[in-house]
Amino acid sequence: MQLTARQIEAIEAVEAHDGDLYAAADSMGISQPSIRKLLSEGRRRGERPRSLAQLARGEAPREDLMLTSFSRRGKDEDGNPFSESWRPANWKKQSVHELARRFVASLSDLPALKKIKGPNRCKSRRGTTNLLKLGDLHVGLLVWAREAGHNWDLRHSESILHAAVSYLMGRAPQAEKLIIFNAGDYFHVDNTRFETEASGHKLDADGRFPRIAETGLRMAIRMIEAGAATHPEVEFISSDANHDPMSNIWMRLALREAFRNNPRVHIDTEPAPFHYRQVGNTAIGFTHGHKCKWRDLPEVMAADVRDIWGATRYRMWKIGHVHHRFVQDLRGCSVEALRVLPPGDAWHVGAGYRSLRDLRLETIDHEYGPLGEDIFPEAMWEGLAV
Ligand SMILES: [Fe+2]
Repeated sequence: MQLTARQIEAIEAVEAHDGDLYAAADSMGISQPSIRKLLSEGRRRGERPRSLAQLARGEAPREDLMLTSFSRRGKDEDGNPFSESWRPANWKKQSVHELARRFVASLSDLPALKKIKGPNRCKSRRGTTNLLKLGDLHVGLLVWAREAGHNWDLRHSESILHAAVSYLMGRAPQAEKLIIFNAGDYFHVDNTRFETEASGHKLDADGRFPRIAETGLRMAIRMIEAGAATHPEVEFISSDANHDPMSNIWMRLALREAFRNNPRVHIDTEPAPFHYRQVGNTAIGFTHGHKCKWRDLPEVMAADVRDIWGATRYRMWKIGHVHHRFVQDLRGCSVEALRVLPPGDAWHVGAGYRSLRDLRLETIDHEYGPLGEDIFPEAMWEGLAV
C-alpha cells in the first residue's frame, strides 16, 4: 500500500505528539478533521501508524508495532515481480469472544469500590421503583458545531451525563429500588478502526479508544454510585446494540467486579438480547431495538415470559436505537423509544435527522403502574460550562 508524502507527514506528526491529534494538527498548520482524514487509511486497516509509515518508506514494519498482517507486491529494480508479507510477532486470529474472555480474566486485579453509603431507611418507600431510562449515549462521539450545529466530545458526554444524573437523583421520589436501563450504543465506537462492526460505517470519534473506554467506565460507575446513594437497591441493565457489541460485554463485567463489595448494587451481565423485569403489577421489557421490529415486541414478551405477562396489568417496552421519542400503545403493551443526550453527528444532521434531547426518570407504583416521570431537558445544560 502506498501512502502519500502528506499522509506520512501526518502519521509522523501524530507519533511525535504521542498520539495527540490536536497537537499534531497544530504542528502541521491544519485542522483536526483534516489530519483525521489523512490518517483514515491507516485507521481503515486498523494498524498503528508507525508501521504503516515504515512500510511506505519501503522498510519492513517492526513486528512489535504491527496489529495486522501486511503484504506487498511490486517489481524490483530489474523489473522482476516480487511479493512479501509480514505478520505480527504474536499474530493469531482471535474472535471477539476470545478477546472478551481475556479481558475478563484480567479483571481479577481490578480494585473493588468501597461500600457506598445508602439513603436513610425512612427515605425509602416500599412499593415504588424508579427507572432511569438512559438512551443511546454514544460515548466517544465527536461533533463539530460548524458541521452539525453542536460541539460534542468526551468532556461533554461526561459532564452532561453527570449533571443530568445528579439532577434526577436529587429529585427522585422515594423508592425501594432504582433500575438503570442502558439502552445500548453506550459507546460510539467498539474498535480502534472507528468503524461499526457489522457494516463498516466510518464514525467520527474523539481521541483514542483506551481514553473512550476509560471515560465511559468512569461515567457508568459515577452514575451507579449516584443511584446507590439515593436508593436502597440499584440494578444496572444493559442492552446489546449495534455500535458497541463488545464494549457492552466488557463494561458490564468490569462494573460487576468494581461493585462486588456493594451487595445493594446488582449488575446484570446476561448477554440475552431481551431483558424482562416484573415490578409489582407492571412488566417491563428492555432491548436496544436494532434487530426486532418494535411493533413485534409485545408478542415477543408474551412468548418469552408468559408467566409475567399473565401476572401483570401494565406492560411496557423501553427501547433505544432510533434517537427520538415515541410512545405507542399496542394490544396489552406499550413501546417507548428513548431520546438521547448527545447531538446528531455530521452525517445524521446532513440527512435531516432532528429531535429533542433529554434524560428521564420514570416512577412505577407496584400496584398502580407507571405514575409519572421527571425530565432533564437539553435547555437545562445549554448554560453549563464544559
Ligand atoms: Fe444509537
